[in-house]
Amino acid sequence: MKRVLVIGSGGRCHAIVDALSRSPQVGKIYCAPGNAGIAAQAECVPIKETSVNELVDFARSQAIDLTVVGPEAALAVGVVDAFRAAGMRIFGHTAAATAIESSKEFAKVLMEKYDIPTSGYQSFTDYNQALAYVSARPFPAVLKYDGLAAGKGVVIAADLKEADEALKDMLLDAHFGQGKVVIEDYLEGPEFSFMCFVSGTSVVPMPLSQDHKRAYDGDKGPNTGGMGAYTGLPFITEEDKAFAFENILKKTAAAMVSEGKPLSGVLYGGLMKTRSGIKVIEFNARFGDPETEVVLPLMESDIYEIFAAVAAGESALPTPVWSSENTLGVVLASKGYPGSYEKGAVIEGLENVGCKLYHMGTKADEKGRILTNGGRVMIAVAKAPSLPEALEKANAEVAKIKCDNLFHRSDIGRKAFGARIIDGKALSAQIKEEVRVKVEAAAAKIGRVPCLTVILVGDNPASQSYVKGKIKACEVCGIESRLITKPADISEAELLALIAELNADASVDGILVQLPLPKHIDEDKVIDAIAIEKDVDGFHPLNVAMLNLSRPCILPCTPKGIIRMLESTGVALEGCKAVVVGRSNIVGKPVAKLLLDKNATVTIAHSRTRNLADLTRQADVLVAAVGRIGTITADMVKPGAVVIDVGVNRHPETGKLCGDVDFEGAKAVASAITPVPGGVGPMTIAMLMENTLECFEKRMK
Ligand code: AMP
Ligand code: GLY
Repeated sequence: MKRVLVIGSGGRCHAIVDALSRSPQVGKIYCAPGNAGIAAQAECVPIKETSVNELVDFARSQAIDLTVVGPEAALAVGVVDAFRAAGMRIFGHTAAATAIESSKEFAKVLMEKYDIPTSGYQSFTDYNQALAYVSARPFPAVLKYDGLAAGKGVVIAADLKEADEALKDMLLDAHFGQGKVVIEDYLEGPEFSFMCFVSGTSVVPMPLSQDHKRAYDGDKGPNTGGMGAYTGLPFITEEDKAFAFENILKKTAAAMVSEGKPLSGVLYGGLMKTRSGIKVIEFNARFGDPETEVVLPLMESDIYEIFAAVAAGESALPTPVWSSENTLGVVLASKGYPGSYEKGAVIEGLENVGCKLYHMGTKADEKGRILTNGGRVMIAVAKAPSLPEALEKANAEVAKIKCDNLFHRSDIGRKAFGARIIDGKALSAQIKEEVRVKVEAAAAKIGRVPCLTVILVGDNPASQSYVKGKIKACEVCGIESRLITKPADISEAELLALIAELNADASVDGILVQLPLPKHIDEDKVIDAIAIEKDVDGFHPLNVAMLNLSRPCILPCTPKGIIRMLESTGVALEGCKAVVVGRSNIVGKPVAKLLLDKNATVTIAHSRTRNLADLTRQADVLVAAVGRIGTITADMVKPGAVVIDVGVNRHPETGKLCGDVDFEGAKAVASAITPVPGGVGPMTIAMLMENTLECFEKRMK
């Protein structure tokens, strides 16, 4: 059995140790220095990752067969060179080859020389020249400090002021040390990570992954070391991957051989899919973090084989077998990270977590409890057949981890698969089935089923179709329905008399007047005429009054349905910012009230409210109930928001039903959204069924 030493301590090393522990040839694993999580799978030895001589001595004394290097710092100080000089096998690049990561300028020159696609650049050591250069160019400007800066050496300056500050920092303050800056053309497009095992010119690809560098949901907040990652990138085609493999990864490996700096470890391409093709943003000379934590769990073959082949300098590398499932990792970080944060908080609930959990910055106390001990503390990695399922699973597992001093993102990978469609049809079918069961039980006790009477005035086709849906729902729920149709020229007095008759009819439990009514009839008067105990749509003034007093009352169907849809997404309404656009008495205002009752912060606006976009862009929950196409465009939606579209409009050109929200655009930004049709409409009908049952039960008491 082989004896292996892994150098490093974070989540990446934990994932490497975990993969090695699955190898049938590996017996003993040491990790220097490791962490509290790694300690469960390897023997941790207290040697710093950059203490080269100590590491060499340890490996020799323990007869280590293979050493695997995690962090770039260890590579850059020549740990590989030292092991090789001592005649020991090690996976990782020499210090010279590590220049591909440690010097931005080296990488740029190499790419230019070998025609490897990347952004244009200039490098500077003089502050004034650098400033003159950026001043004359378009913003944003990309400024990269030339040297290892633990991911903090890149500034995307939006304007000259920001660029100037960064240049002063990098070139005048000696804050970063050496004082050289690479200024690059700004590229746009989704980024992804392409890691390969490399031995000279032999290159073996790993599955692609995507890191999430910003601290908070919706890609907000400061840059971090990575808040999560996933595999299975929907936006990268097989051709894209083949292009990147041939023209970037393989070409770079060959170029490094030509330069006399052959690679012998992992080459990490930080790539971007731009409009003009795939380009290199950066190279790393090691496994990515947190990419490794999502990629290695997919490896089904023996990782020791490929580590050993690379370390032996073989040119024929084995081809690993990878699972076709998706993995998704969510990082739990200390509150305050990437700024200052406290250490030493107790983490509980870890034993309940049902997915892989790699420790990044933890330590164990004398009682064996796990404490936070770094900015990024751990990463939960879920595996599932699809990306949305992987996200759901990862979030569910993360919820089991209890620690007041941790935060995490809940939208890892979400942008890639777009918003979840809130399926009002499915949800309403479920609710109607629940109503049917209750109706059956109530009928067995009382001796009859509830009865809903629907009044339809005139021949408006939309009203006819709504009424048809309501009658159909009654059938599904086992509720008796009576449809009374009246001509459009019925007088107000006749209609009121009809309602009075139904109010008095003991066999009628619910009365619904389909709105809108012809112009010569006062709708309010008609609604007021319905007995409060038979008002299945909650429009009766007394119901409305009780709603506003937060007293139990029959809730209006559409607002009630909207709240149920919101709850089905799992969005936290308490404390969220909600914006309701549309101030009607039957949708906008009651929705706002119901949201207030859930302790949301609610702003109610109308479609012509000044700076409407500034408001909607703040909304975690956005409800559009205006009835006008194009009221809410994609740029008005906050990334990760839940969007409810109540509008029903007919598109003037296509004739198709559509809502107030630009569905396709908003779908790419939101975390969940209702379609039109198939969203709120079916829910309104399901709520009508619930309300009819409620009226029936109350009257029968
Ligand atoms: P790096 O450390 O080189 O990976 O840069 C950190 C981040 O800055 C990258 O992940 C990108 O999001 C961004 N970035 C770097 N270079 C560019 C560029 N040329 N254009 C646009 N964004 C960039
Ligand atoms: N995830 C980015 C890196 O490892 O550099």
